[in-house]
This record gives sequence, structure tokens and C-alpha cells, in this order.
Amino acid sequence: MKIGIDSIAFSTSKYFLKLETLALHRREDYEKYYVGIGQKQMSIFPPNEDIVTIAVDAAQKATASTPDKNDIDMLIFATESSFDLSKSAGIYVHNFLQLREDCRVFDLKQACYSATAALQLAKSYVRENPRSKVLVVASDIVKYLPNTPGEPTQGGAAVAMVVGENPRVLTLEPYSGIHTTDVMDFWRPIYKSEALFDSKLSVYNYLKSLNTTLERYLTLSRLNTSDLDCICYHAPFCKMARKANQQTLRNKFLENSLIYGSLIGNSCSASVYICLLSLLDNTPESLSQKRVGFFSYGSGSVAEFFSGIISEGYREALSPENSRRLIEDRMEVPFDEYESFSDGINMLPSSKYQNIGAVTLARIENDKRIYRSISSLS
Ligand code: HMG
Repeated sequence: MKIGIDSIAFSTSKYFLKLETLALHRREDYEKYYVGIGQKQMSIFPPNEDIVTIAVDAAQKATASTPDKNDIDMLIFATESSFDLSKSAGIYVHNFLQLREDCRVFDLKQACYSATAALQLAKSYVRENPRSKVLVVASDIVKYLPNTPGEPTQGGAAVAMVVGENPRVLTLEPYSGIHTTDVMDFWRPIYKSEALFDSKLSVYNYLKSLNTTLERYLTLSRLNTSDLDCICYHAPFCKMARKANQQTLRNKFLENSLIYGSLIGNSCSASVYICLLSLLDNTPESLSQKRVGFFSYGSGSVAEFFSGIISEGYREALSPENSRRLIEDRMEVPFDEYESFSDGINMLPSSKYQNIGAVTLARIENDKRIYRSISSLS
């Protein structure tokens, strides 16, 4: 039975900051951000946009071509930027998508790795329930403290994937190389909006985990690196993926997979799947039947190397023009406005700002986040 990604779409903020602007205000050489780290822009989130509003937008797009939304009987929301330690962010998405009531909904957390755990769980579930579809949503907004080395690698996005039988985009293959180790390379205590990190340790552990998981994957699958036509890496910043690629093999499609990430910034759980979309949307030659390797890394840490085969006719399930427009139509914010967005989940919503999709965080009342369809407010 072929199981995998039947449709995929992403969303991000309506606003961005140029890293040139950040470099100017932080008195850094712009070349360090552009060449050294490999980033050009980062998505910046106004108070009325959060992991739920962008997740709804991505999920509405990904399910638009699903013939019957009633086939979706599980929704897994992968995030590490949750604002509620109890209620699942997925329940809001379930509500706005009007999915059936007997649909299991829950969140998963393990830094940037959780969407991969969700995808593998979805695969097993569909194998047991071939008529079911699972909606996997990965949504994260990454914030670091100002004036820290992490600041130019902020960003955020949501990716939604419908997982089912006979997928139109990519069939997941059976083998995975997995590696878990207790390491303090990146963490976010529950009382903080910004993540803390150990730069050098995080880069070291990422590359070490890549080695271990790739070796395990190759042993289990009995494949060689030459059997992989390209690799999508978790890309907290593009230079990280370039370093990873030097360590594994040189693949000619790498730069296509990094186009969206260089403009959005780190999107944590969504990042490796943003790379997949960027690869599929921006590679002119056909990738049908090509084997794509995936390296998923979540600090802390859990890493997994797995692969999938691109479906014949995958282009029909994608909307590259819409994806590109989503990024191109964002509005640049001046530096003082960027600074005013820095309170993260504690900011109060304001109708002054636009949302990317059809849902907005309208207000926070008695510590309850109240979301509304934008059409219902006008
Ligand atoms: P840093 O200390 O600011 O930068 O940290 P650096 O001094 O190491 O320089 C970076 C590169 O820029 C170097 O190149 C410099 O030579 C170069 P490299 O040696 O790497 O090839 N450079 C220049 N190039 C051109 N012109 C110049 C110039 N100056 C220097 N003038 C770092 C950079 C990205 C590590 C920092 O931003 C950081 O700590 N970020 C947060 C942590 C992170 O993203 N770690 C990545 C691995 S962990 C991960 O991926 C998980 C994560 O997504 C979280 C999760 O799982 O939830 C983060």
C-alpha cells in the first residue's frame, strides 16, 4: 500500500524584516547574515497573527483539493511555540475547518522534530485505516532575544499536509534512521517567549545527528547515498543546510529547496517541509519518481533520516504561483515596528495589522484567545 503526502501547503506572516535593516541597527556586517548565515529576510508576526491563524490558513489550502473532508478523522498539530499547556492548538484548526466531530485532535512537541513524528504516526494510522486521511499541521514562530546570535535566524511558518493512501505528492518509504540524545543545545522555559540556545553545541549536535541517522538509514534500507536524488534538511538558517550537504553529498537541487526558507527564516517544525515545497515549486525539471531524503532535527534532541518517492503528476497537486505570491506580497516593516512585535504571545491583538489568511486573533479576554473569521468582523 502506498501512503504519504497527498497535498501540502504553507502559510506565513503578512510582514517581514530585511536582514540588511537588522544588520544596520545591530552594527553587524550584512555579509555575515547574507553569506555567513545565508538569510535574506525573516517573517515577523503582528499581534493578531499566531501559530493558530497561520495554521488555519495552511490547512484550508491543503484541504481545498481533498474530495471529502469527512475522510479526515485525525488532526495532529506539531509545534514548540504553543501558548497553552493544556488545550491543543489543533482544536481551533478543527473548528475553523469544520472537520467531523469524531476526529482525534492533539498536539505534539519535540522542538523542530515533532512534525516528522506526526507524519510517521499518520502513516501507521492510515496503514491500519486505509479509508482515513490524517491532517498534519506544523506551525511555529521562532523568537530569540534581541542582540543575541539567534536574532537573525528568527522567522515562522505553518505547513499543512494531508496524509493518505495513493498520495499525489510523495510516497513515504519504510526505513528511518533515528537518534535521540539528551543535550541542552536549545530550550524554551514555559515562562519565556524567546528560546535560549548554545550556538556551537547546537550546530555540532545537528551535524553529528545527521551522520548517525544517515548511516542508520543507509544500513537499514541497503541503499547508498547515490540512490538519493536530493535531500531536504531541517534549515534553521540556510548555511546550516549547506554545511549538512557538504557532509553528505552534493546535490544539485539543494539551492531550490532553500529559496523559501531564506526569505521566511526558521520555521522549526515546519522547516524541513517548507524545504520540500520550495524544492517542488522551484525545480523546473520533473522530479517524478525521484527519491528525496529528509533530515529532520529537533534540539534536545531527536533526529530522523527517512525518504520518500515523488509521485507522477505531483505538479497537479501544487500551486507554486500562490506560494510565491504569499512570500512576495508580504509587507516590509521598519525596524521600530519589528521591535514593537517583540513581546510574542503576550502582545494584544490590533486591527491595525493585516492577517495572511481568513482568521484573526480578535482579542484576549480573561486569558482566553478569541479567534474570528475576518469576514464575520466586517
Ligand atoms: P554566531 O556566533 O553569530 O556566528 O552564530 P559565527 O561567528 O559562528 O558566524 C557564522 C558564520 O558567518 C561563520 O561561517 C562565519 O565565518 C561567517 P562558518 O564558519 O559557519 O562557515 N561570518 C561571515 N561571513 C561573511 N562576512 C562576514 C562574516 N562574519 C562571520 N562579515 C548561529 C551563528 C547561526 C549559530 C546563531 O545564529 C545561532 O546560535 N542560532 C540559533 C541556534 C541554531 O539555529 N542552531 C542551529 C542548529 S540547532 C537546530 O537546527 C534546531 C533549532 O531549529 C531549534 C529546534 O529544534 O527547535 C534551532
